[in-house]
Amino acid sequence: MARISLTVDGEKVADDVEPRMLLVQYLREKLGKTGTVIGCDTSNCGACTVHLDGTSVKSCNVLAVQADGSSVTTIEGLAQGGQLHPVQEAFRECHGLQCGFCTPGMIMQSVDLLKENPSPSEEEIRLGLEGNLCRCTGYHNIVRAVQYAAEHGGGASSAQDGP
Ligand code: FES
Ligand code: FES
Repeated sequence: MARISLTVDGEKVADDVEPRMLLVQYLREKLGKTGTVIGCDTSNCGACTVHLDGTSVKSCNVLAVQADGSSVTTIEGLAQGGQLHPVQEAFRECHGLQCGFCTPGMIMQSVDLLKENPSPSEEEIRLGLEGNLCRCTGYHNIVRAVQYAAEHGGGASSAQDGP
């Protein structure tokens, strides 16, 4: 077992984990943060996307021990003070989800995308989300949601994100 300590959604946590444990497993199974979901477990779908020190990563592609000392933000840490993050609000407003399975990852990736590029073109949005798959194929409204978020202050990063 290996000892890790990190900050998750603003709270400091420390645990003994198996060195082979994935970050997504740690978040879901140890911390109960089931908002981060597993769609493929092979780094293809993006459903497990979280922010690691402020940058989006596929948490099925990161070992929990690699997150030692880092700050992780999940979809559950995005809303602050009972207020949806502007990107969450945009997905709700633009019906950017159908079954919702891809939505946590889509939103986490979109937040990172808008932080890097607050006014992306449609092509830049599609490129930025190419690592996130929607099995309901609702891409049109997802792109609209990111455009809406860009127009309504969605480029501001989560307060719990790292640098
Ligand atoms: Fe991580 Fe699909 S579950 S990319
Ligand atoms: Fe169903 Fe994207 S909304 S997978």
